[in-house]
Amino acid sequence: MKAAVIYEFGNFDVFKYEEVSTPDPRPGYVLVKILAAGINRFDHYIREGSVAPELAFPHILGADAAGEVAKLGADVAGFEVGQRVIPVPGFPTDEDEYEIRPAGTAPSFTLPGLGVPGTYAQYIEVPAHWLVDDDTGLSPEEAATLPMALATATRSVKIIGEVKAGDKVLVHSGSGGAGSMQIQVAKALGAEVASTARGDNGVRVARKAGADLAINTSNEDFVERVQAWSGGGADVVIDNLGGDQLAKSIDAARALGVIVAFGFSAGTEATFDVRNFFFGQKTLRGSMASDIEDLKWGLEQVKAGRIKPILDRTLPLREAAQAHKLIANNQIKGNLVLLPWAA
Ligand SMILES: NC(=O)c1ccc[n+]([C@@H]2O[C@H](COP(=O)([O-])OP(=O)(O)OC[C@H]3O[C@@H](n4cnc5c(N)ncnc54)[C@H](OP(=O)(O)O)[C@@H]3O)[C@@H](O)[C@H]2O)c1
Repeated sequence: MKAAVIYEFGNFDVFKYEEVSTPDPRPGYVLVKILAAGINRFDHYIREGSVAPELAFPHILGADAAGEVAKLGADVAGFEVGQRVIPVPGFPTDEDEYEIRPAGTAPSFTLPGLGVPGTYAQYIEVPAHWLVDDDTGLSPEEAATLPMALATATRSVKIIGEVKAGDKVLVHSGSGGAGSMQIQVAKALGAEVASTARGDNGVRVARKAGADLAINTSNEDFVERVQAWSGGGADVVIDNLGGDQLAKSIDAARALGVIVAFGFSAGTEATFDVRNFFFGQKTLRGSMASDIEDLKWGLEQVKAGRIKPILDRTLPLREAAQAHKLIANNQIKGNLVLLPWAA
């Protein structure tokens, strides 16, 4: 099969589009023909070497895919060849840890494209336990935008943020893969949503995702806007920025409000005035990865039409380097998808 392989950390040019052996599914595993592979900013961090310095090479990146069952390993029930499926974008590899919740706390938890070969390929071998039926009716390229963004958005907004109907929620980077999905999950739960982006294009995408208030942070202060909009501060802030923005996210939350730390697009280190935090008796919670139940709940919302994929564009798999360049340069609004079978 063809795959985009990396042999070292580095810039965009580390991808080699080449022939590698197609896996033969082990007992309990399924061989999935990948019809479309979604890209996340996380893949870019892995390629740079800033997430997993211990990575073994050669390596295939990619956590997200939509595909169809190509071959069943021994002892696999419940799937048939040709069935449309989505691999869960993160799971424990040790069978004894399959039932640990949250799955992200299992010692052997990893992601396709991190601890096991990823989706930038024509086929992937996935444990049947960590494969879900894709009955969304979406095209493969639309479905491939979903897994990580949808499942982690569900986890961060619904489970960790405990967002409920009537809440006022701030979601940052409403133009990004994660942010645009977090807006949709909050809206599906019945919340009102404010979102941020650093330009008119991003603001448009945030609105398209359903934001009731979209703030252009290149010329507006989101703390002031959110406090005025919510009447004193958001009930929940989903912070996928980190860095120097986390302190402002804390300021944008109401007294007793919850801030969910989810990402670090603006930096890995943050400082804040503790008085702004404990005077208001606020809570800061971390959200990491997702469970299979989060993905299934999210896909139900997609089927019901409450959540929609936001596909920016597709590129052939051989152009993985160009795809990473677009992501790193913030030129993608929503999601970018690789097509492993395109010429
Ligand atoms: N905890 C988890 O389970 C989990 C899961 C998935 C992702 N994440 C994290 O969430 C973050 C976003 O991921 P993603 O896949 O959505 O990335 P993405 O699709 O590339 O979107 C990120 C967006 O953030 C904005 N941005 C980038 N740099 C910024 C900066 N310095 N200051 C302010 N805004 C900036 C950009 O939008 P504008 O230019 O329009 O502002 C960009 O489009 C990443 O840190 C990622 O690692 C965490």
